[in-house]
Amino acid sequence: MGRGDLDPEQIVRLEEDVPAVVLLDQRRLPEEVVEVRCSTPAEVADAIRTMVVRGAPAIGIAAAYGLALAALGGDDLPEAERVLAASRPTAVNLPWALAQLRGEPTAERARALHEGEVDRCRRMAAHAAELFRPGTRALTHCNAGGLATGGYGSAVGALRAAAERRLLERVLVDETRPLLQGARLTAWELERAGIPLAVIADSAAGSFMARGEVDLVVTGADRIAANGDTANKIGTYSLAVLAAHHTIPFYVVAPSSTLDPETPDGSAIPIEERDPGELTSRFEASNPAFDVTPAALIAAIVTENGVHRAPYEESLA
Ligand code: MRU
Repeated sequence: MGRGDLDPEQIVRLEEDVPAVVLLDQRRLPEEVVEVRCSTPAEVADAIRTMVVRGAPAIGIAAAYGLALAALGGDDLPEAERVLAASRPTAVNLPWALAQLRGEPTAERARALHEGEVDRCRRMAAHAAELFRPGTRALTHCNAGGLATGGYGSAVGALRAAAERRLLERVLVDETRPLLQGARLTAWELERAGIPLAVIADSAAGSFMARGEVDLVVTGADRIAANGDTANKIGTYSLAVLAAHHTIPFYVVAPSSTLDPETPDGSAIPIEERDPGELTSRFEASNPAFDVTPAALIAAIVTENGVHRAPYEESLA
């Protein structure tokens, strides 16, 4: 593990003595480092829904452990799978992980899936680092770090790998309203890794670009359609439009478990609507948690298999 890396087991693990899925509570970071124990698949689903654990690959890993927990407890497995699958709609890693465990929902298989995701992160980060030049000033949105992937990170993994190669000057971190995954989680992870960072208001990204202070934008993804259209945290689309206006490359870094070849384009990706109370309890509010960035705005999609460019129907197939 590199400097400041979280141990994958600190983020999410299955305990078998007194069976439980144990999660680092991401709602309380960075102020408090505390765990939540889930003793039933329904509790795991609730932890995913309430974002104790979040980030597309980490959601999938938690659900895989949740299904293994159901098997250990002799629960109704199709029902456990249904409850887990319904916890959040946008990240395709969730149904992907459950499908991987179907038929053999053992602890070993869930752990192997977790290890596989972390391994994919390291491989895609090495490919993504090739896109950085000495002195790169990057901008990222939300948290696509080890917390979001069960270890190492996708977009943050790319930043780690670039920093190790001494290619990264600093990272602008969008605070990522309304739940502040950038200001709380990405900033915490980059600080632990010793990577220079500055948290900025989401609405400040355009002016930093106009001042020539951003060389590239790098984000993760929750679901990538067959044509390369990409769902990610709300605000990602705006960043991609701004990057195009300023001729700054916009890169997506995600494992193959985030690819959804069954979904032809972004219009078919389900977008989660969250409680308006996350925005305001005083007024009517609308709170979509994700948006879709059209493939045409994405300079490259990086997976563990390499750097993919348009046309994505061919390069991702
Ligand atoms: O609502 P969240 O925090 O689960 O949203 C997470 C994101 O949008 C991440 O960028 C995405 O899941 C990629 S995680 C490697």
